[in-house]
Amino acid sequence: MQKKLNYIDLIRTRHSTRDYEQHTLTDADKTQIMAAVAGAVPLDSTIHLDWQIADRSPMRSSGLLYAECGTSDEELVEYGYRGEQFVLTLLADGWGTCWYGMAHMPGSPCSIIFGRPGARGARSAFVGALSRGYMRKPLEQLVTDGIPEHSSPLVRTVLESARLAPSAMNRQAWNFEVTSDARVIIKGDTDRFPDLGICLANAMVTARQLAGAATVTRLDTGAYSVSW
Ligand SMILES: Cc1cc2nc3c(=O)[nH]c(=O)nc-3n(C[C@H](O)[C@H](O)[C@H](O)COP(=O)(O)O)c2cc1C
Repeated sequence: MQKKLNYIDLIRTRHSTRDYEQHTLTDADKTQIMAAVAGAVPLDSTIHLDWQIADRSPMRSSGLLYAECGTSDEELVEYGYRGEQFVLTLLADGWGTCWYGMAHMPGSPCSIIFGRPGARGARSAFVGALSRGYMRKPLEQLVTDGIPEHSSPLVRTVLESARLAPSAMNRQAWNFEVTSDARVIIKGDTDRFPDLGICLANAMVTARQLAGAATVTRLDTGAYSVSW
């Protein structure tokens, strides 16, 4: 069951953590992390992802979460969709996270590293600056045909959450369409990275928080609707 969190605030405060305190995972930590994993709702429940904690510490993190995952567009989207939900839950529990594509665990497109956030160092400041992680494309650039003038505030909040999603190298390779006051379409690349699923997760948890329920539907390769 998903926790009642303020996902909208979490999305607005989350950034990749690349500096960690030295912290060895306890059994209680592992239980908390796997509870966050279990709380993620699937988009396609027929896709099986067996998330595991690997005893690896890139960037001096405490561990790394990954699952074996196929390379179809649906599987990559699913990976990002579930992964971003527990990224947000872990943030609420005081963990820092960073999606990590540089080192692949066998059969996995990328990992999520995590640990207790530490003081910011020069290396992470450099990587952060290189990926321009605090920059996002403006909504005006991302929304095909613009946001209709009399759209409900909820539409804009859902799109804003989608806009803030993390992506590999901060590519933000997606665009949005508003089709009604209760439905948006999100399209994006599904070639190598789980970015589109991450973006859909942000939109879904925001719509669910504000409207009580939200549905994500696959329309075509790389095209999904989010309705509430
Ligand atoms: C699929 C994916 C892979 C990523 N791989 C790396 C990585 O290998 N190393 C890294 O430092 N950051 C990585 N990032 C983090 C992005 O650079 C970061 O999310 C983006 O620049 C936006 O910054 P923010 O997360 O601080 O908002 C990755 C992000 C995603 C979604």
